[in-house]
Amino acid sequence: MPNYEKSRELYERACRVLAGGVASEFRKFSAPHPLFYVSGSGSRLTDVDGNVYLDFTLSQGPLVLGHSHPEVLSAVQQASAAGQLYAGQHLQELELAESLQRLIPCAELLRFSLSGSEADHAVLRLARAVTGRNRFLRFEGHYHGWFDNVAVGVGGTLADLGPRDNPTPVRWSQGLPAQIEHESLVLPWNDLELVEQAFARHGNELAAVITEPVMCNNGCIPPEPGFLRGLRDICDRHGTVLIFDEVITGFRTGLGGAQTLFGVTPDLAVFGKAMASGYPISVLTGKKKFMQPIAEGKVIHAGTMNSGNPSIAAALATLRVLERDQIPESLKAKGELLMAGLADVSQRAGHPLRIQGLGPMFHAGFTKLPAVRDYRDTLAYDKPAYAKFVVGMQDRGIRLIGRGLWYVSAAHSADDIDQAIATAYDVLKAM
Ligand SMILES: Cc1ncc(COP(=O)(O)O)c(C=O)c1O
Repeated sequence: MPNYEKSRELYERACRVLAGGVASEFRKFSAPHPLFYVSGSGSRLTDVDGNVYLDFTLSQGPLVLGHSHPEVLSAVQQASAAGQLYAGQHLQELELAESLQRLIPCAELLRFSLSGSEADHAVLRLARAVTGRNRFLRFEGHYHGWFDNVAVGVGGTLADLGPRDNPTPVRWSQGLPAQIEHESLVLPWNDLELVEQAFARHGNELAAVITEPVMCNNGCIPPEPGFLRGLRDICDRHGTVLIFDEVITGFRTGLGGAQTLFGVTPDLAVFGKAMASGYPISVLTGKKKFMQPIAEGKVIHAGTMNSGNPSIAAALATLRVLERDQIPESLKAKGELLMAGLADVSQRAGHPLRIQGLGPMFHAGFTKLPAVRDYRDTLAYDKPAYAKFVVGMQDRGIRLIGRGLWYVSAAHSADDIDQAIATAYDVLKAM
């Protein structure tokens, strides 16, 4: 059994000064308590007690090249030596914008922000401005950041959610404004019929439909064939803006995001996470017509820290490596091997571990359901069993995200994949 003693002591100290002992809600949930880390290199991470982990969290996704990639670190060092933040224009920002415009189908104009949450906030504001409408449609279990307007419909139990064809918008937090339940219409995902019905009733009130193109945040559920195309058609018919939240799919499923993979171009899209290997940057982008209100100053988007030198340099270096070494293709191949290996050992160990996703990211969870198509289906996952699995993996040197999402990076070797599969077998047999 590994020793977590120093982490435990530091966590107790942290609880006296950081609210909940952490800097982000999702970091609270590690067992036996949040751990303190001292370094990361390639596919591995070391904690303060000296335990080394093969890492499939990749810091919730950003580290698509693994920890401390030398080309990224060197680019950041050079850019930082030149200056941290000009709060003015610089050539690297322009070069990054031009690369993204070339790679992403909807990216006629773009702006840089710091986080996915901010960029999601901005695109919803754009959609309202362009359409003159107030409400938007989102899907149960999708995550679009933690800001007020998207803090309904993120979670909830079956009882909270109400009927499928008329769900209750479930609040995720206290302290939200009164009007947000009215502003967001929430539906189960992957069901075009329900979307058609909602548009028949509310089409002329809906500024936007916002969706993760793959439902990465719950179950890593791919879209049913025709679902994204169907959303595109419905939005076109009703003059509603289609937004893809590509914060996870971007730069992971391919350099043009899921919109390239599925061949459906949204009006607006948001990218973040993997684009800069862990440095704070996001992109809001879209067709000219939909970004124009920002260009004209009719919709405000701002930020003191936007386009800081280290983040822009990290993004340029990350993109260069992703493109040069065709990383998204290799992530898919590696991820699919890992998925197949986990499915095989779970079957051999006699556990119903369902593996679902695209390869570069996928979900594992215990359920006997033959198909998991939407958030309501994910509620059937046996979460306590998966929590035990995660602890078993961590105790054997493999770090996983507690809610079942796995991320694969360029730094994971064939041996790492084999190690993960063999360790999973040991843990499953012991469960
Ligand atoms: C799909 C999606 N959108 C938006 C966000 C919010 O991004 P950030 O954490 O950078 O604010 C996340 C974060 O996990 C995400 O997964």
